[in-house]
Amino acid sequence: MLRQVMALVMLMVLALPVTTNAQDTMERDRSATGGAQTLEDILARQRGDAVDSKFRRKFGDPDSAAGVAQQLGTRGGASDPDLWRAMRYNEADISVSAGGDVAKVLVQSGGMAWYEFRKGPLITYGGYLLLGTIGVLILFYLLRGRIPVDGEMTGRTVTRFKAIERFAHWLLASSFILLGLTGLVVLMGRSFIAPYLGKDVNSALLIASKFVHNNVSWAFMLALVMVFVFWVAHNLPSRSDLKWIAQFGGIVGSKHPPAKKFNAGQKVIFWSVILLGSSISLSGLSLLFPFELPLFAKTFGHLNGWGVYDWIGMSPFPTALTPQEEMQFAQGWHAIMAFVLMAIIIAHIYIGSVGMEGAYDAMGTGEVDEAWAHQHHSIWLDEVKAKEASAGKSPPSSATPAE
Ligand code: HEM
Repeated sequence: MLRQVMALVMLMVLALPVTTNAQDTMERDRSATGGAQTLEDILARQRGDAVDSKFRRKFGDPDSAAGVAQQLGTRGGASDPDLWRAMRYNEADISVSAGGDVAKVLVQSGGMAWYEFRKGPLITYGGYLLLGTIGVLILFYLLRGRIPVDGEMTGRTVTRFKAIERFAHWLLASSFILLGLTGLVVLMGRSFIAPYLGKDVNSALLIASKFVHNNVSWAFMLALVMVFVFWVAHNLPSRSDLKWIAQFGGIVGSKHPPAKKFNAGQKVIFWSVILLGSSISLSGLSLLFPFELPLFAKTFGHLNGWGVYDWIGMSPFPTALTPQEEMQFAQGWHAIMAFVLMAIIIAHIYIGSVGMEGAYDAMGTGEVDEAWAHQHHSIWLDEVKAKEASAGKSPPSSATPAE
């Protein structure tokens, strides 16, 4: 009760002069606290009133600050708030051993928004995207089952991928899976590992994950280039893609539309891997070499030039970004693109393994049964057989199994 009465009296004492000469009183109160905010500042902020925070830019009177510190029984003349305020407004005298001027900025507004985005929507929507994809695939498996090879296997095989192509694919696959898992630990460890296994375990995992993530990225980029070179010619759009799409690729129903080496669905996977993979690689390089490869101000400039913001009903993108904001955008973009590609790749792994009988052999041994090839890539099989026949190796395409 006594405390409440005291608080009321304090409020009245503070509120009374505020109504008479608010500005003067606030300045006086602030100088009495060494330039720090007053109770009225705090109350005004809580009421939702506008508070002119310019005073925070000024340092308090050091003598007065020392006086306050002594009254409170603390040691030293400069209070912590002075130091933090100086850091906040980039006025502290900071020296760094590496990183140049940009590394001297220890506190900046964008950091909080980025942190909130990263621990909130990014983890939530990204996590739901991955879990949702897995859920849809489980449902699809339960409804459709494994897509079988119709009829008997012939026992005759054709070469689908050479050893170097399979090497490139597995280098891409293993590096991507490692990058995905370690990236998730870096992003989600604080929310999902630390609370259960403790901060020490999380920290050890984080250090190991960061090391693996940063170094394995090179293998991914190399494999991406190899896969692009090997398969781009087979992934250009063709007329047969329209027919394949019109028949939903045979996923629904039992018909198997003709396809070349890669069908329209695989072309989507290929171009997703190439485009999203390149974008992830580029933003990853920007993160790997902090502040040396700023990408976003320039990109936003181009997008604004093309009026993209108008089409999507937004205001122009910011083109004056601090080096820290550049890094925040790079991290956000890197993670969003990675989540989308992970979801696509989960579907790809499903169809390349449990989802379709006979598919795995293509990347396992490189040899596929002619019955499988005829069912899923009939145009390609006919081309291969025709080539073999002209080279005198095997009978022409009429020998392929009937539908
Ligand atoms: C680890 C599990 C994986 C399995 C079992 C798997 C399986 C396969 C198989 C069987 C094929 C050949 C399909 C055919 O003969 O038509 C293939 C192709 C391909 N894979 Fe994978 N893959 C895996 C992971 C990945 C990853 C992580 C990536 C990329 C990040 C990837 C990218 C590709 C691409 C671009 C193709 C060619 C286009 C296509 O067939 O969709 N694969 N994969």
